[in-house]
Amino acid sequence: MKMLLVMVLLLHVSQHALPGVVEVNEGAESVLLPCELHGIPTKENLRVVWTCSDLSPRFVHQRGEEGDLEEQNQRYRGRTSMKPDALDSLDFSLTLRKPHLSDSSNYTCSITDGVNVRRVTDVELKVKDLQEEVKVTEGAESVILPCRTTPDLPKDVTVEWTRSDPDLMMVHVYPSTSKEFMKQSKFYRDRTEMYEDLLRSGDVSLTLKHPTDRDTGSYICTVYRDKDILRQKVVLIHVKEPFPSWATAVLVLLVLVLIVSAGVLYHFRFCFMSVYQVKVESGAESVLLPCRTTVHLPGDAKVEWKDNKYRRVHVYENSSDQPEKQNQFYRTRTVMERNPLQSRNLSLTLKHPTDVESTTFTCRVYSKEGNILMEKQVRLTVRVYQVEVESEAESVLLPCRTTVHLPGDAKVEWRDNTYRKVHVYENSSDQPEEQHLLYRTRTVMERNPLQSRNLSLTLKHPTDYDSRTFTCSVYSREGNILMEKEVRLTVRDCQVEVEEGAESVLLPFRTTPDLPGDAEVEWRRLETKPEMKVHVYQNGSDQPEDQDQVYRSRTKMNQDPLKTGDFSLTLEHPKHGDSGRYICRLWRGGDLMRRKTVQLKVKGRVQVQDQRTSGTEADPTPLMADQSV
Ligand SMILES: *[C@@H]1O[C@H](CO)[C@@H](O)[C@H](O)[C@H]1NC(C)=O
Ligand SMILES: *[C@@H]1O[C@H](CO)[C@@H](O)[C@H](O)[C@H]1NC(C)=O
Ligand SMILES: *[C@@H]1O[C@H](CO)[C@@H](O)[C@H](O)[C@H]1NC(C)=O
Ligand SMILES: *[C@@H]1O[C@H](CO)[C@@H](O)[C@H](O)[C@H]1NC(C)=O
Ligand SMILES: *[C@@H]1O[C@H](CO)[C@@H](O)[C@H](O)[C@H]1NC(C)=O
Ligand SMILES: *[C@@H]1O[C@H](CO)[C@@H](O)[C@H](O)[C@H]1NC(C)=O
Repeated sequence: MKMLLVMVLLLHVSQHALPGVVEVNEGAESVLLPCELHGIPTKENLRVVWTCSDLSPRFVHQRGEEGDLEEQNQRYRGRTSMKPDALDSLDFSLTLRKPHLSDSSNYTCSITDGVNVRRVTDVELKVKDLQEEVKVTEGAESVILPCRTTPDLPKDVTVEWTRSDPDLMMVHVYPSTSKEFMKQSKFYRDRTEMYEDLLRSGDVSLTLKHPTDRDTGSYICTVYRDKDILRQKVVLIHVKEPFPSWATAVLVLLVLVLIVSAGVLYHFRFCFMSVYQVKVESGAESVLLPCRTTVHLPGDAKVEWKDNKYRRVHVYENSSDQPEKQNQFYRTRTVMERNPLQSRNLSLTLKHPTDVESTTFTCRVYSKEGNILMEKQVRLTVRVYQVEVESEAESVLLPCRTTVHLPGDAKVEWRDNTYRKVHVYENSSDQPEEQHLLYRTRTVMERNPLQSRNLSLTLKHPTDYDSRTFTCSVYSREGNILMEKEVRLTVRDCQVEVEEGAESVLLPFRTTPDLPGDAEVEWRRLETKPEMKVHVYQNGSDQPEDQDQVYRSRTKMNQDPLKTGDFSLTLEHPKHGDSGRYICRLWRGGDLMRRKTVQLKVKGRVQVQDQRTSGTEADPTPLMADQSV
């Protein structure tokens, strides 16, 4: 009673506070929804619940010691977390990873003692779509409307570039099948282009050729990916910059696209609005982004290299490099000639290029008054090492070797394309507690990787969920990147085929043994909405009452799967209707530990004439004769 009284007092105060508004741009890594209790800890039986009334089920996240935890809304699975010591510190703030536009809603943080529920705070989350401004100067050959999403897009992704003012117009559709092509507005026909490797890079930027005044306005890039919709706005502004007339003339004359392989520098006379293509292997020590000119450059000019996110890559001003003006990401990684204005060689050496920089860099020179004296673009593509492996392979090697000397106190970090830590080697030993649960106990690196310069990683029991890009980075003690290399892993789909009428079929899934005993295992049917529960193992035993009717008493998993690491599922009497994608997920708390999908195909049995007379309709074993028909 005393406890509740304290709570009521505390809550009385916080209810007067206005509901907080938290804004975040879609595409951000995460957002924090604040919720804090100030005062005397009242922890007995305390449970924290984050809810959202627009949803069903309402539960976004909960933490507590007692009581049945209701099901967390699927949309938030694996995306929410609270501090481990939340109940002690009374800081119940919720971290929501990868906020989507559709997460915009009012969230409530409450505490309960199991009987009474008290609201601590309301937070209105506004996830805004990104807006970028792009300026294009008169007479420009083309302009890039930037739009990026996560790399490794599925093949069935659709991208639409539309424009809403003055009229609704379809600017570009991907994929550009003839049907989609018909949707494109005539105004943009033959003037638009997207990158060829957009599925891999996630760079769905649009190149618009011959931009004019009439192209000025707002463009929306919409990416439809599975159930996710990413929307990004780009505002195109046409600037009538007083271009020197000679420059315009050169501009009209020059549409040069030169292919230069890494290491080979082309002597290039003109440095004007042409796009160089530079290709380099991932893991290369450095790459040269060429930019030269024959134009005289005044001694007080300023040189600025930027990437396509408008981040400053390198700045040279007042006759010296200006490292403090650089973006953090590029700091200590760039080198320019000592007297670039005098030598007219503004080329930039970029150390440890990674796939993140498969992008267009712009080199610009400004006069003291701020006018653009010259501009040049370089498109850098980093080729990624590819590894492919069978679906049931015991392990796969992700190669990463270097020839540079690595100091003994360097740190090696393997991460995946969503920045999950795959393996960490620091202070001369592996750091398993730093690894994400998905990868824990699944990775092996050489004993002395820095000495042998072999940082290759063995990943055990790869599944289709590991089909992604992995990055191997080495950091000095000061945190500078010494090398970085990417490896693209493809794990072939696991496909199982069986004849209808067979006794049973096995959906294989083996992973590392000795998993924590409180993990939950769920086999589900993908493609069904909601995903049908095929088999549930929780709390040390199968949970048949959680299964969907269709699968009840037809599924079996081996004893002690968490101990053996064998989650293979036996499905009895497979029917044609069982064909489809099955997914097995291992959870611990809200965190995903393992994931694998299996494609099952149950082939319909061909009817045999004799069967009618055999009179054994109930016999489910297939007749050998079936196969010969
Ligand atoms: C959240 O609540 C505020 C105030 O009650 C309301 O104005 C707003 O529309 C709500 N937002 C959403 C997304 O429901
Ligand atoms: C460059 O010099 C000018 C004039 O001396 C000064 O205003 C400006 O701040 C300097 N810039 C940097 C980056 O030092
Ligand atoms: C331009 O400078 C880079 C170093 O920044 C150098 O590697 C390159 O050879 C130079 N190019 C020419 C043509 O001098
Ligand atoms: C490694 O050692 C440094 C300094 O001794 C320490 O600050 C750091 O926390 C250690 N890292 C790990 C993961 O043990
Ligand atoms: C690098 O180490 C891996 C084991 O982590 C080993 O399989 C591989 O052969 C090594 N590569 C070389 C070139 O030594
Ligand atoms: C899990 O097991 C414990 C102890 O065996 C039991 O008290 C608890 O009710 C079980 N929970 C569920 C959800 O089955």
